[in-house]
Amino acid sequence: MSDLTELYKEIAVCRRCILAQGRTKAVPGEGPEDAALMFIGEAPGFHEDRQGRPFVGAAGRFLEELLASIDLTREQVYICNVIKCRPPGNRDPSPAEIEACRPYLDRQIELINPKMIVTLGRFSMARYFPKTSISRIHGRPKRMGGRIIYPMFHPAAALHQPKYRAAIEEDMRRIPQLLAEAEQMVEEEPPPQAEQLSLF
Ligand code: URA
Repeated sequence: MSDLTELYKEIAVCRRCILAQGRTKAVPGEGPEDAALMFIGEAPGFHEDRQGRPFVGAAGRFLEELLASIDLTREQVYICNVIKCRPPGNRDPSPAEIEACRPYLDRQIELINPKMIVTLGRFSMARYFPKTSISRIHGRPKRMGGRIIYPMFHPAAALHQPKYRAAIEEDMRRIPQLLAEAEQMVEEEPPPQAEQLSLF
């Protein structure tokens, strides 16, 4: 069994926070273990909780449309959320819940080691950009730890609001170019050991 499958099993029976009490299924995430591109959403909603899969409701359909606009399918990318269980009534995740779930997301990122991470919405953005607003920084890629982090609006927010919708569509269109750059970037960066050697 792969490390990622082990992690999914752990998440399925997790009781680290109160959300375990109300969930139908935990939603660990899905996609190829070697995906170059990873999307991090907020939290499972009603349909995700029922099916145990991320982004399978209206926001998911929109995300699939956005992916299709750059010739990708959801099977080609990794999709997960900041928290793995549905908050009651789809309320915002609490800081304690995000903290309790953080080790799972940390481990997913470590195991998949994507070249580029797209954050969807403010909760996943806050993992990398804690003190700013999404309206200010969406669509602005940042190099971090050998990969590109790219904040975008959440598809659920963008779906029905023309202003955000135009922005998310435009931000999405830049992904192929950024991903190509991210792939280049990692190849060009020497491993830490080689860097050390060049000092002497
Ligand atoms: N919204 C999210 O942030 N994640 C999902 O999985 C579904 C909707």
